[in-house]
Amino acid sequence: VPLHFVTLLGSLREKSLNAAVAKALPALTPEGVTISPLGSVGAFPLYNADVQDQRFPEPVLLMAEQIRSADGVIIVTPEYNYSVPGVLKNAIDWLSRVTPQPLAGKPVAIQTASPGAIGGARAQYHLRQSLVFLDAMVLNKPEAMIGQAAQKIDAEAQELNDAATREFLGRQLVALAALARKMKA
Ligand code: FNR
Repeated sequence: VPLHFVTLLGSLREKSLNAAVAKALPALTPEGVTISPLGSVGAFPLYNADVQDQRFPEPVLLMAEQIRSADGVIIVTPEYNYSVPGVLKNAIDWLSRVTPQPLAGKPVAIQTASPGAIGGARAQYHLRQSLVFLDAMVLNKPEAMIGQAAQKIDAEAQELNDAATREFLGRQLVALAALARKMKA
């Protein structure tokens, strides 16, 4: 069964380490899996229930539809102050109000990259907590935390050339594909 995954990026920075990771993924996919990026979460306004009551912003509805029709989502994000960046949390808050809620039952993998030693591990666990409420099917293992990312990624060229990192990201994609096939069956 062919599968299609989408990447959701938690950084707005042009030379983002995490953007370089997301960009590397299509070349690391197992047989039968394609990956494409979702739009920028920077296109979402700050969540406001009054705005929602009038009309959901177009970028929110578009992303919700793209997630709904995907077989899985890969969230690639930095850690900010030991947690999830506000721009990503804002996007999750918007998406959580759309019906049908696009992340419900959706296979999700999390990847974080940081110049620090533990690669954004704390943000992953805060993100998992929100995804429990959204009833997403978050992949438990393998986890993908890229520590010392500045040494492994050429942010200027937006390239991830570190062989060991490419290898473990590839293994996570294999696991996400297995979860997605199980969910589809
Ligand atoms: C950071 N950074 C950071 N790193 C980390 O490992 N743990 C953290 O808690 C934080 N906190 C934090 C807060 C804020 C406001 C900023 C701007 C940065 C450093 C962060 O990992 C680094 O800037 C990355 O390069 C950001 O990811 P992108 O934009 O390169 O993908």
